Amino acid sequence: MIPFLDLKAQYRQIKSEVDAAVAGVIESTQFVLGPQVAAFEERFAAYCGVKHCVALNSGTSALHLAFLAAGIGPGDEVITVSMTFVATTAAILYCGAKPVFVDVDPVTWTMDPNLIEAAITPRTKAILPVHLHGLMADMDPIMEIADRASLVVIEDAAQAHGSEYRGRRAGSIGDIGCFSFYPGKNLGAYGEAGAAVTNSPDLARRIALLRDWGQESKYNHIVPGYNFRMDGMQGAVLNVKMGYVESWTDGRQAVALRYDRLLARTQFKRPAPPSHCRHVYHVYAIEVDGRDRVQNALGAAGIATGIHYPIPVHLQKAYAELGYGRDDFPVTETVASRFLSLPIYAELQPEQVAKVVMELENVALVGAS
Ligand SMILES: Cc1ncc(COP(=O)(O)O)c(C=O)c1O
Repeated sequence: MIPFLDLKAQYRQIKSEVDAAVAGVIESTQFVLGPQVAAFEERFAAYCGVKHCVALNSGTSALHLAFLAAGIGPGDEVITVSMTFVATTAAILYCGAKPVFVDVDPVTWTMDPNLIEAAITPRTKAILPVHLHGLMADMDPIMEIADRASLVVIEDAAQAHGSEYRGRRAGSIGDIGCFSFYPGKNLGAYGEAGAAVTNSPDLARRIALLRDWGQESKYNHIVPGYNFRMDGMQGAVLNVKMGYVESWTDGRQAVALRYDRLLARTQFKRPAPPSHCRHVYHVYAIEVDGRDRVQNALGAAGIATGIHYPIPVHLQKAYAELGYGRDDFPVTETVASRFLSLPIYAELQPEQVAKVVMELENVALVGAS
C-alpha cells in the first residue's frame, strides 16, 4: 500500500519533541494563545519574510478576517478563481461580498492575469489569487493591475508555505497572506489552525482584535469580533515543525523531481512551474484521460490518490446562487475533470515513486487497448 499522505511517518521523526511540547502546554495551562503561539507568530513571520503574523484557528478564519480588516463588505466584489477549495469563496461570502471568478492559466493552473481587467467593475475591491498546489499565482501582473485600480490583494497561501515568486515568499507580496495549518498541509498542526501575515501594522492589529472578540484589553470590546484564536497546543506543535518544514519541502521537491523524470516518457501533463517560482508541491497533480478509471485502477493496485478539486466552486450546488454555469470557465472545468493528485511527502521512498509511475503506465496501456 502506498498512502496518499503518511502523517504517522512524520510523527515518528518528531515524536519526542512534539510530545514534550504538548506536555509543556498542559503543564503551563496556557491553552489559548499564550507564549507558544506568540513564539510561533514571530518565527512564521520571519519565515514568510513579513513583519507580522497573527495566529488563528483556521485558514478559513484567516481569509475571513483579512477581508474584514481590509474593510471589504456588502456590495463589494472580490475577483478570485473557481479552481480552489470552497473556503476561498466562502470567506468572501462571510463578509457579505460577492465572489467574481476568472479562469485559470492552462499551464500553471493558477489565476490567469489576462482575464482580470475584464472582470473589474466599480464595485471591485480586492483580488484573491490562490497559490494552488503550492505554486504561487503570477503575482507581478496581478499586483500591477491592483495598483492601477487601487484594489487590495489578499493571497490565499493555504497550500503554499515557503513557496516563492521571484525570490519573494508566499504571503509577502499582497496586502495580507492567509495560511492554513490543517494537519495535511506542508506545515500542519495537530488539529485546526491558520494564520494571516502582513507587513502592515494596522492590518495586523485589526486582525488580532477581530480574532479575540474585538477586545483591546480584557472585557473592553472596541469592535464586534470573533473567537478565532489559535490554541496553545497547536502553537507548540507548529513551533516544533518550524524546525523541519524546510527539510520536508526539500523532500517533497526531490519526490517531485523523481516524478518529473519518470513521467517525462509518458503522455501525462505534469506540473510546469515557471523558472522564477519555487513550487513547494503541497500537491503533485497530473492531467489524465479517463481520470476516474485510472484512479480506481491505481486504488486496486494499492496506490491512494486524490483530486484537488473534482468540482470547481462555480459548479457546486452550495454556490449555485452565484449564477454561474457549465462552460463559464473552460480551463477550470477541463482540469477539474482531468486532475489526479499522486502521493507526495518527504518520507515517500524512490522505489514507491517508481511503483506509482509503473502502475500509472500499466493502467494507461490497458485503457488505450
Ligand atoms: C486553497 C485553500 N484555501 C483555504 C483553505 C482553508 O483552510 P482551513 O481548512 O484551515 O480552514 C484551504 C484548506 O483546506 C485551502 O486549500
